[in-house]
Amino acid sequence: MGNNGFLLPLMVFVVVLSNSVANLSAESPNATIDQLALLALKAHVTHDPLNLLATNWTSGTSVCNWIGVTCGSHHERVTTLDLSKMSLIGTIPPHLGNLSFLSRLNIGFNHFHGSLPMELANLSSLKYINFRHNNFRGEIPAWFDSFTQLHSLLLYSNNFSGVIPSSLGSLSNLEKLILYDNDLKGQIPIAIGNLSKLKRLYLDNNQLSGQIPSAVFKCKALEFLSLTDNVLEGSVPQEIGNLTRLRYLYLDNNNLTGQLPSALFKCQELEELNLSQNALKGSVPQEIGNLTKVISLHLYRNNLTGKIPTTIGSLSVLRYLYLGYNSLTGQLPLTLFKCQELEDLLLSNNSLEGSVPQEIGNLTKLRWLNLSKNNLTGRDTDNATDKTQ
Ligand SMILES: *[C@@H]1O[C@H](CO)[C@@H](O)[C@H](O)[C@H]1NC(C)=O
Ligand SMILES: *[C@@H]1O[C@H](CO)[C@@H](O)[C@H](O)[C@H]1NC(C)=O
Ligand SMILES: *[C@@H]1O[C@H](CO)[C@@H](O)[C@H](O)[C@H]1NC(C)=O
Ligand SMILES: *[C@@H]1O[C@H](CO)[C@@H](O)[C@H](O)[C@H]1NC(C)=O
Ligand SMILES: *[C@@H]1O[C@H](CO)[C@@H](O)[C@H](O)[C@H]1NC(C)=O
Ligand SMILES: *[C@@H]1O[C@H](CO)[C@@H](O)[C@H](O)[C@H]1NC(C)=O
Ligand SMILES: *[C@@H]1O[C@H](CO)[C@@H](O)[C@H](O)[C@H]1NC(C)=O
Ligand SMILES: *[C@@H]1O[C@H](CO)[C@@H](O)[C@H](O)[C@H]1NC(C)=O
Ligand SMILES: *[C@@H]1O[C@H](CO)[C@@H](O)[C@H](O)[C@H]1NC(C)=O
Ligand SMILES: *[C@@H]1O[C@H](CO)[C@@H](O)[C@H](O)[C@H]1NC(C)=O
Ligand SMILES: *[C@@H]1O[C@H](CO)[C@@H](O)[C@H](O)[C@H]1NC(C)=O
Ligand SMILES: *[C@@H]1O[C@H](CO)[C@@H](O)[C@H](O)[C@H]1NC(C)=O
Repeated sequence: MGNNGFLLPLMVFVVVLSNSVANLSAESPNATIDQLALLALKAHVTHDPLNLLATNWTSGTSVCNWIGVTCGSHHERVTTLDLSKMSLIGTIPPHLGNLSFLSRLNIGFNHFHGSLPMELANLSSLKYINFRHNNFRGEIPAWFDSFTQLHSLLLYSNNFSGVIPSSLGSLSNLEKLILYDNDLKGQIPIAIGNLSKLKRLYLDNNQLSGQIPSAVFKCKALEFLSLTDNVLEGSVPQEIGNLTRLRYLYLDNNNLTGQLPSALFKCQELEELNLSQNALKGSVPQEIGNLTKVISLHLYRNNLTGKIPTTIGSLSVLRYLYLGYNSLTGQLPLTLFKCQELEDLLLSNNSLEGSVPQEIGNLTKLRWLNLSKNNLTGRDTDNATDKTQ
């Protein structure tokens, strides 16, 4: 860059006169770099049905006035590029890596495809990447670890394949890692455990296999953890109890075995717990009553045995209880009918016995009740707001 000698005085000049000569910095070489980068992107868009870029991204006006573009307040450099929901079809040109001040990049809900050029690794100021709902395929590039300031990486609903790169574990500022609805395989990398600020980890609907590494439970800031619809196996590690801020835990539709880990009931902030459609066995422990903030409790289609614990009555904000398709025995505990907020109560396909107590009439918010395929006697059920067959 032999231009530096003349750039510095120009910069000072621009700063001093920027109020009266607002457009001058647009002509500085650096603003031109951004313009060239965006025009290259425009040229790589093969279909623009709303004609947004075609009519709006014209070289006559400053890039800062282009639709979807935001510049910094102190310099006319692009800091945000938001082209979401424009129905664009195209590819990402390497020139985009020249937007050196870019902090937010959102191209979600379009049809961008192809591979991601390595030049993007130059975007070291990026804090937010949103590529959701596009048609990207191939591996998630290992060089994503260049984005050292990144707090959100949203790549969901694409066709990314291969393994989750371990290098993502070095993104020490990452708070959201959302990779669901892709075609990712292999194990969840242990390096994920290094993400000490991670609050949301969504890896659902991929083909991740092996055990859930204990390292995941080193991410003590986690509030949302969803690994639904994979082929994970082994038991749920006791270290789950370290996630004391966890509010949403979705591990359903995997191949998990073993018992419900007792440490799970240390996660007292849990609002939604879904471990259904696995092969869990053993009983539902009394400690379930510790989860006093639980709104939604899904344990259906496992191999759970024993009685419904009486402590269930402590779940005073419980609205959805799904325990069907297990091997639960014994009577319905009376305390169950203390759960006044219950809307859905599904206990079908178990071996529950005894009568249905008239207290079921206390569940005034009930909209869906299924007690079928048990050994219950049907007395008193006509007091319930039963809308099932
Ligand atoms: C312009 O670009 C050069 C090299 O890319 C860089 O060193 C300089 O800081 C930039 N100046 C401004 C005002 O952005
Ligand atoms: C481009 O779009 C922006 C934002 O909608 C608008 O302010 C600007 O006037 C448009 N420019 C042109 C040349 O149409
Ligand atoms: C921007 O990036 C492209 C491709 O990576 C490169 O060819 C070009 O020289 C870069 N610089 C400018 C000023 O456009
Ligand atoms: C941008 O990326 C390319 C390819 O990764 C690299 O060769 C180049 O040095 C980088 N440029 C800057 C300014 O970092
Ligand atoms: C992913 O790839 C499959 C097959 O290659 C294709 O049918 C599907 O539409 C793709 N999905 C997306 C979101 O691009
Ligand atoms: C969980 O916490 C215990 C003590 O609080 C600690 O010894 C253990 O290493 C932690 N495990 C993980 C995976 O973070
Ligand atoms: C679980 O494992 C069994 C046997 O190993 C296999 O047949 C089944 O498809 C697996 N289910 C899922 C959801 O991975
Ligand atoms: C439950 O256990 C039985 C016998 O041990 C087994 O045949 C069945 O596949 C298991 N069901 C699930 C959902 O794991
Ligand atoms: C959890 O529940 C058990 C039994 O219901 C109780 O003894 C224990 O004190 C509870 N633990 C916490 C941390 O609330
Ligand atoms: C059911 O409701 C009645 C009257 O509102 C109350 O006295 C009783 O304790 C309730 N039973 C249970 C199990 O909550
Ligand atoms: C349920 O009832 C059937 C027949 O009515 C009986 O064969 C079975 O042993 C009963 N199961 C339990 C768990 O009571
Ligand atoms: C329905 O509930 C009321 C009061 O809760 C009770 O008096 C009545 O006997 C119940 N009806 C039946 C058929 O059990």
